Amino acid sequence: MLAKKATRMANRKKIKEGKTKVLYRGPEPGTLIQYFKDDITAFNNLKKDKIEGRGILNNRISAHIMTKLSECNVPTHFIKRINMREQLVHEVDIIPVEVIVRNIAAGSFAKRYGIEEGTKLPRTIIEYCLKSDELSDPVLSEDYIFSYDLAHPIELDEMYQQALRINDLLTGMFLMINIKLVDFKLEFGRMYNEVTGDLHLLLADEISPDGSRLWDITSDEKLDKDRFRRDLGGIEHAYQEVARRLGILGDDNGKVEVAKPVMNKPLHIRKVNI
Ligand SMILES: Nc1ncnc2c1ncn2[C@@H]1O[C@H](COP(=O)(O)OP(=O)(O)OP(=O)(O)O)[C@@H](O)[C@H]1O
Ligand SMILES: [Mg+2]
Repeated sequence: MLAKKATRMANRKKIKEGKTKVLYRGPEPGTLIQYFKDDITAFNNLKKDKIEGRGILNNRISAHIMTKLSECNVPTHFIKRINMREQLVHEVDIIPVEVIVRNIAAGSFAKRYGIEEGTKLPRTIIEYCLKSDELSDPVLSEDYIFSYDLAHPIELDEMYQQALRINDLLTGMFLMINIKLVDFKLEFGRMYNEVTGDLHLLLADEISPDGSRLWDITSDEKLDKDRFRRDLGGIEHAYQEVARRLGILGDDNGKVEVAKPVMNKPLHIRKVNI
């Protein structure tokens, strides 16, 4: 039984491998298995390490957040968490534009505009960056996005609206556990319905302390990847603390998160036009 399972896992087709995850072909057409590695990287791969158990924590945290979002009718790629390291997701064409949502100045934003880190922004600011490690994810203007057909205006508008809604939901979710949601990164993808030809936009990738800044409300202690970027130590404890406060730390007991299927309205953009 175990040997059979091991062979099945060794034989499955790898679709892509990134810095922190591997995507395998899923059991049904149009599905993928997202495997979370323990690798951690920063500064577009210049700094790397392996932190035992980090992949398990990110899988758990992201599955929990995606499930909560789909309960609030946010369309996501997440179908269910399969085991400690893997989740089943819908395959999408990733839009090569990262959406950054900022509530409080930090990191590159604070540096770029000379704003002291920790300053609350007058309003939520959404930025777009090119998904490109070689170019260090440069900030993009809307004109650039449209000129180079990275996303259709209807898609970008939908990404903007979804990002604000996700921010609203996550800010509340983290406030309840005494965490400030400083900023976070989102990736979206296109899913085509081959039968109807409709195109849907889904939130993809992951939401975890890797791509978010999470600070304790009272102490401002960092509970995210900045502990690694800035050599603060205690990264595994910080991620565990986030999981503990979300109420998902500990024995799995066979429990897996399953999202209710949510589909947004078709975007009414023809596949050939993008
Ligand atoms: N549902 C999905 N369908 C297809 N691709 C996906 C899906 N969800 C995430 N991806 C992509 O799979 C890869 C995940 O791997 P990982 O996060 O390790 O990549 P990465 O090294 O950060 O690379 P990248 O710079 O491309 O994000 C990313 O390229 C991500 O955009
Ligand atoms: Mg990634």
